[in-house]
Amino acid sequence: MKKRILTGITTTGTPHIGNYLGAIKPALKLAGPDTESFFFLADYHALIKQTDASLIETSVKDIALAWLSSGLDIEHSNFYRQSDIPEVHELTWILSCSAAKGLLNRAHAYKAVVAENEASNADDDKAISMGLFSYPVLMAADILIFNATHVPVGPDQAQHMEMARDIAGKFNHTYSKIFNLPEALIQNEISVPGIDGRKMSKSYNNIIPFLCSEKELQKAISKIVTNSLEPGVPKDFNNCNLFELYSLFGNAEQIESFKQAYLDGISWGDAKKGLFTVINSEITPIREKYFELNAQPDLLNDLFADGARKVRPQAQELIEKLRDLVGISKIV
Ligand code: TRP
Repeated sequence: MKKRILTGITTTGTPHIGNYLGAIKPALKLAGPDTESFFFLADYHALIKQTDASLIETSVKDIALAWLSSGLDIEHSNFYRQSDIPEVHELTWILSCSAAKGLLNRAHAYKAVVAENEASNADDDKAISMGLFSYPVLMAADILIFNATHVPVGPDQAQHMEMARDIAGKFNHTYSKIFNLPEALIQNEISVPGIDGRKMSKSYNNIIPFLCSEKELQKAISKIVTNSLEPGVPKDFNNCNLFELYSLFGNAEQIESFKQAYLDGISWGDAKKGLFTVINSEITPIREKYFELNAQPDLLNDLFADGARKVRPQAQELIEKLRDLVGISKIV
């Protein structure tokens, strides 16, 4: 069986360089010529966390453009929106009817909210929607609808992958061996510091954007927090957020000479210029592509329609088989 890689991106927020380095770049690297790849926007998953419709829409657009500008090759991979494949929901229900509630009770994300409720003496179920509780079943359906063999995800998704395998295995056991058990490809977490030195995250308001003008990039970099050592005073490149960011973009030679510049007492202003140069040279082609794509009004709608046209027949075929298996088909 040919390797079939599939991964979903929940459409909340706008990608920053932390997402670019940690998720987009590694996923695109996996999409070689000997693999089939499926990348999709998990917009129905986003509804669990976001009730502002316009923010969902903006996020779908930003994330799609980020992936396309970063080099996603739509000729050789499948790129679609979860919501354009309604069979995913039919499968979600079919799987829900065999997935054990006890399994879902153990999901970390769900348990974390229950624990918070307990800590504040609130009702266990406070602020827990059925969407949050059933999240892993929808994710299993995303994967199983295309019988993916490999699923690249961050370490935080390892449990969801175990659950997807469990759910698939249980169904196979009850009915017939129809689902491949998908293997998780757990991606090393790349730690990307934000401008304040904490992990780069929208919720800390410490991000460096990458779908932006050169000026905006420069501005974000100029805000990186450093110590107050004067120019000419040697600086420590260990435990330095600016240096850490530099090493995520520079090549070995550049990193060596940046180290030397620290020892030689580079000024923080010059260090920021150096960081800007190294980030900007990687991002310039992405930025150009982004502005070019962003100027084409119907581009995304057309791409999403094409994406769904390419993959949906496979989902329909699987659902036909499943309906037969569970007894919901033409009466003979
Ligand atoms: N839950 C994943 C995340 O938050 C996103 C996702 C949804 C996904 N469906 C998927 C990832 C299917 C891989 C496969 O990162």
